[in-house]
Amino acid sequence: MESMGALRRTQSCNDLGASDIGKETTLMGWVLRRRDHGGVIFIDLRDRWGVTQVVFNPEVSEAVHAKAHQLRSEWVIAVRGQVVGRPESMENPKLATGAIEVFVHELRILNTSETPPFPLDEDIEVSDTLRLQYRYLDLRRPEIARNLILRHQAMQTVRAYLNSHGFLEIETPMLTRSTPEGARDYLVPSRVSAGRFYALPQSPQLFKQLLMVAGMDRYYQIVKCFRDEDLRADRQPEFTQIDMELSFITEDEIVAVVEGMIRDLFAAVRAVELRPPFARMTYDEAMRRFGTDRPDTRFGLELVDLTETVRDCGFKVFQTAVAKGGVVKAINVKGCGHLSRKDLDDLTEYAARFGARGMAWIKIKDDEWQSPITKFFSPEEIAAMGKALDAQPGDLILFGADAAKTVHQVLSELRLELARRLELVDRNALNFLWVTDFPLLEYDEEEKRYAAVHHPFTAPNEDDLPLLATDPGAVRSRAYDLVLNGNEIGGGSIRMHSPAMQKTVFAALGIGEEEAREKFGFLLRALEHGAPPHGGLAFGFDRLMMLLTGSTSIRDVIAFPKTQKATCPLTDAPAPVSRRQLTELHLRPDWKEKM
Ligand code: AMO
Ligand code: AMP
Repeated sequence: MESMGALRRTQSCNDLGASDIGKETTLMGWVLRRRDHGGVIFIDLRDRWGVTQVVFNPEVSEAVHAKAHQLRSEWVIAVRGQVVGRPESMENPKLATGAIEVFVHELRILNTSETPPFPLDEDIEVSDTLRLQYRYLDLRRPEIARNLILRHQAMQTVRAYLNSHGFLEIETPMLTRSTPEGARDYLVPSRVSAGRFYALPQSPQLFKQLLMVAGMDRYYQIVKCFRDEDLRADRQPEFTQIDMELSFITEDEIVAVVEGMIRDLFAAVRAVELRPPFARMTYDEAMRRFGTDRPDTRFGLELVDLTETVRDCGFKVFQTAVAKGGVVKAINVKGCGHLSRKDLDDLTEYAARFGARGMAWIKIKDDEWQSPITKFFSPEEIAAMGKALDAQPGDLILFGADAAKTVHQVLSELRLELARRLELVDRNALNFLWVTDFPLLEYDEEEKRYAAVHHPFTAPNEDDLPLLATDPGAVRSRAYDLVLNGNEIGGGSIRMHSPAMQKTVFAALGIGEEEAREKFGFLLRALEHGAPPHGGLAFGFDRLMMLLTGSTSIRDVIAFPKTQKATCPLTDAPAPVSRRQLTELHLRPDWKEKM
């Protein structure tokens, strides 16, 4: 190994072009590829910015050429040499530096490298665990490095936008009390206060409200949040939010501020020009037409409600579902009447994964409706269904009959799957949609009580206040989500700033006065000291970056993500700790593993 000595880097590996021919240059970077061509050695030298071809020719220097024989993948080198134009036939238009190469007359080997556990210059399948274990190598791959660069640009764009709109960036604590966003907490035991625990924040929700009480008026933070929940491709145990809160504000004003930020973000990172205002849809309409509160509106296949049409029909499955208070809904899969029995069986199996107990279907032929269930319907019922579904010869109708919740879950997933299989999605479309008027409360069958749909600080719609006592599930809230192509990228609400109203909602949630004082006393007290009307929202920054970069997992836009099991193969976290540490923390383990 050698030192850089007097050598100083003069260009990056992406800088040199035809106008530099004849100049001397010093480049530093990693050996990406090495080719030995009849005595001449070609190295593709890589750094964060790009790749430059450097050439070791014995006619330039025999000693340097001999030394270059040692070089292997991912060794770190410095080269000094002359920029030379490539013969026209050898130019590489795919490379920014493809017009030139560097004839090296000085080489320093700054570091060697073990053979990488996977090649960095090929797009081959590597197991996720191996990639994460050697994340620093994975991040050398341009496509992953690019995501981090775009993430940086996005973050700077967000900051610039919010700074110019009167927001203050303020940090809030990581060691705090439980914030109820609906997931399990990550807990940190206290050494100083035996038997007490901090919780890592699921979001800065309560602190940002306190900042409004403090008169900060507009707050933002690009902030880590921690949630111990089942992980999926779009969920990590620690993730980043763009978190905001604003005072003296209405829903429409928040929407306008946020739309401007998203417009700037897509212009900076994707060079696309969005044209707000974005579409809006109430929660009820989203559920009715799409069966989900985050509809992907890039394609049709909407749900059609046939509950009333089939209420008294002869088909037991439908009739029973309706009699039990459920619904019957259907999707017209246009022009797919030719699907085979196997296709239908596959789809039925897919539907079953989401709780379907079956998937009745009808193929619309020129002269008849072909299906084992057609015989159960009267000609009037068939005519009414046909009209509601706009059924034409060649169409395929798929049905769901069950409790509304099940039917919505099944048909919304089936709809997405059909769009994937039939390739109905326009990949370039960016369908933003605000979903509004969420219910305030939702009955939790397991807990036998109402729970907050968004969180317990969201304000109810004042028109619905009388319902709080009589029909709590029907009260609408002042919450809104922003959905992009079927992904929930952000959500928020107008909050309650009146302590009395906050107590009323706590009561509706089954949180008694004592519990409210114990858990949220600090919030209630703050509301009693002149809280301004306020509201805000938070974006899932990783999800947003996943969509901005066209990645399929949020792991691809996070420098050091965790696995599905919330582990880190690189550092091997979570890791055991010593008995002594546990004792200091007043923890007495009863698990068996060796410590
Ligand atoms: P919410 O819980 O809806 O709201 O979270 C806001 C956004 O954060 C993203 N998100 C996640 N991203 C990755 N991994 C996760 N585990 C994860 N969980 C959530 C989603 C979501 O839209 N305090 C409120 C906001 C507010 O009311 O102002 C909150 O946290 O994209
Ligand atoms: P069965 O009477 O169980 O033979 O079902 C007749 C048809 O209805 C089959 O195609 C089933 O897949 C379908 N089916 C059964 N239960 C449901 C349901 N809950 N929703 C939709 N279709 C169903």
